[in-house]
Amino acid sequence: MAFKRTLITSALPYANGPVHLGHLAGVYIPADIYARYLRMKGEEVLFVGGSDEHGVPVTIRARKEGITVQEVVDRYHNLIKKSFEDFGISFDVYSRTSGPIHHKFASDFFRKLYDDGKFIQQTSEQYYDPETKEFLTDRNIKGECPHCHSQGAYGDQCEKCGATLSPDELINPYNAVTGNPLTKKETTHWYLPLDQYQDWLSQWILEEHKEWRPNVYGQCKSWLDGGLKPRAVTRDLNWGIPVPVEGAEGKVLYVWFDAPIGYISNTKELCDAEPAKYGPWEKWWKDPETRLIHFIGKDNIVFHCIVFPAMLKAHGGYILPDNVPSNEFLNLEGDKISTSRNWAVWLNEYLEQIPDKQDVLRYVLTANAPETKDNDFTWADYQARNNNELVAIYGNFINRALVLTNKYFAGKVPAKGDYTDYDQETMAELNRTKDEMLRLLEDFKFRDAQKEAMNMARIGNKYLADMEPWKLAKTDMARTAAVLNMALQIAANLEIAFRPFLPFSSEKLRGMLNLPETNLAHLGSFNLLEEGHQLGEVTLLFEKIEDSVIQAQLDRLARIKAENEAAAKEEERKNWHPAEIKAPTTIDDFDKADIRVGTVLECAPVKKSDRLLQFKIDDGMGTRTILSGIAQSYPEPAALVGKQVLFIANFPTRKMMGIESQGMLLSAQDADGKLVLTAISAPVANGAQVG
Ligand code: 2FM
Ligand code: ZN
Repeated sequence: MAFKRTLITSALPYANGPVHLGHLAGVYIPADIYARYLRMKGEEVLFVGGSDEHGVPVTIRARKEGITVQEVVDRYHNLIKKSFEDFGISFDVYSRTSGPIHHKFASDFFRKLYDDGKFIQQTSEQYYDPETKEFLTDRNIKGECPHCHSQGAYGDQCEKCGATLSPDELINPYNAVTGNPLTKKETTHWYLPLDQYQDWLSQWILEEHKEWRPNVYGQCKSWLDGGLKPRAVTRDLNWGIPVPVEGAEGKVLYVWFDAPIGYISNTKELCDAEPAKYGPWEKWWKDPETRLIHFIGKDNIVFHCIVFPAMLKAHGGYILPDNVPSNEFLNLEGDKISTSRNWAVWLNEYLEQIPDKQDVLRYVLTANAPETKDNDFTWADYQARNNNELVAIYGNFINRALVLTNKYFAGKVPAKGDYTDYDQETMAELNRTKDEMLRLLEDFKFRDAQKEAMNMARIGNKYLADMEPWKLAKTDMARTAAVLNMALQIAANLEIAFRPFLPFSSEKLRGMLNLPETNLAHLGSFNLLEEGHQLGEVTLLFEKIEDSVIQAQLDRLARIKAENEAAAKEEERKNWHPAEIKAPTTIDDFDKADIRVGTVLECAPVKKSDRLLQFKIDDGMGTRTILSGIAQSYPEPAALVGKQVLFIANFPTRKMMGIESQGMLLSAQDADGKLVLTAISAPVANGAQVG
């Protein structure tokens, strides 16, 4: 099918916090590269974004901060919008879902499905807080994770071990905000019967879209193979779009129902505001000659490939996505990025701390784009890619070409000569690299495409290194001119090639070259700069990043890690319950253990063990050695010397790490897991029996 235009959407980020580099790497940079690329090709493109302002997380944040939900979403919508502008994400429209245009559009969309009998109604039991009289959504429920047994797991996910959960799986669920224990209560909701779309979706995705990325296709297949079930599209919540049905007071559209409709309502908002420029919104959403591409992260695949298409199909009249190039996740220094744990590099903070380095981050995130698997962002890699690639390859080439032209030709493009075989081969190689880059861009392989752009800079560097114009200048000015002409043409090509990836640097380079407007059709030409053309002022395209900048970022992360560990301990402590009393025992059983008092004479860590401490105990009859696995709780073991402790004197001797342990020290496990030695309240003779 030949398409006339492309509509690009990028997932609407939740307005419950600033955006971080995971967002940028996973969704917005790839979408932006693609939009810029198509525009350079001269295609008709619309790039739609916006903030997702409904759902539970924004309400949680509002309660925590004691402000209204509207204040929360206003704050983050503005912050997010600004970050995207700062990073050059070239949206045609960036709107929001709490606005009246979206509310009306989504409400009408729901009502049409309702009127057409596309929903089913179901009653089920949901968690309810009898004190606050509210139903709790998954995200508002916390409890103990059934997998890793950490406290504070959410009803939809444990952030500690990453397991996907349902609230029913949580042990001792409680209201995340009030801490109240929960009961269950019946409630009625509307469901989209996805099972009725199973055959159609299987045909459309599994047969007609085999070209989708393997991660996307694979996730769809496993959902379809598992059998689709009806999905609730409404919630009991007081923040969101009211369900437009009589008797549905206190219910709103599920955030995942209204958010993707935001793509359409935002398009409508733009088209209605500027009809002459963009035409009617229906052109973008209802004309089969429009190609729709959704850029998203992997946690959004099911909603964009299964639920939203089923909604569009149920409604009728809409086009469906042609492709959904979803990325996997980007981790930060080996750990999952998390808004609630502050384990992220926030874009606004990044620019405050490392000003003007948007393109460096864009470059590094594309070079590490998690296109096929999860990937890791590290500050060491950030520094290395800047210093060894942007500065040492691309920047160095540009600098040499321009500085030499200034030196030998007063900043004017020198005359080209007759091309040598080597020149011809350089031009051919640059064009082969360019073709490969374009093929990869077409295929949504941005990481490899950017690599090819850098390869074009490598070609330039090699050309200068091989031709050595600084030596030629001593003997042959005509050939020096020809070589620098070639180098400048390559520089002009690099400005075009890097434009989708590094828009700020391309703009800077355009200034240095004093280059007229070009587009993608000019890429590969060696006549981009005419003889005699005056170059602009030369500055450094990229600058080295010093160790101190990187260290400051690593220090920041170390601080956050320590804060998180302290908070996790606190959470464990808060939710700690004493273990149940054991089955009744007898005096005879108790008497079997010979518990005695002793004084610590020596205490030191056991070599090669991070768990064991070695004690020398005065037991009243002599001394004995006892090993105890409490090293983590006593970082300064020598401080225990002189303390009286309790130990089981008739415990069988055991050998650990080559040392014989003659007894067992008694300790209690505190709420945070820490082991504390039991002590006695006043000095007692060593060897005294406890009973
Ligand atoms: O995962 C998220 O961040 C969601 N807010 C994405 C919504 S995408 C779309 F449907 F709007
Ligand atoms: Zn867990």
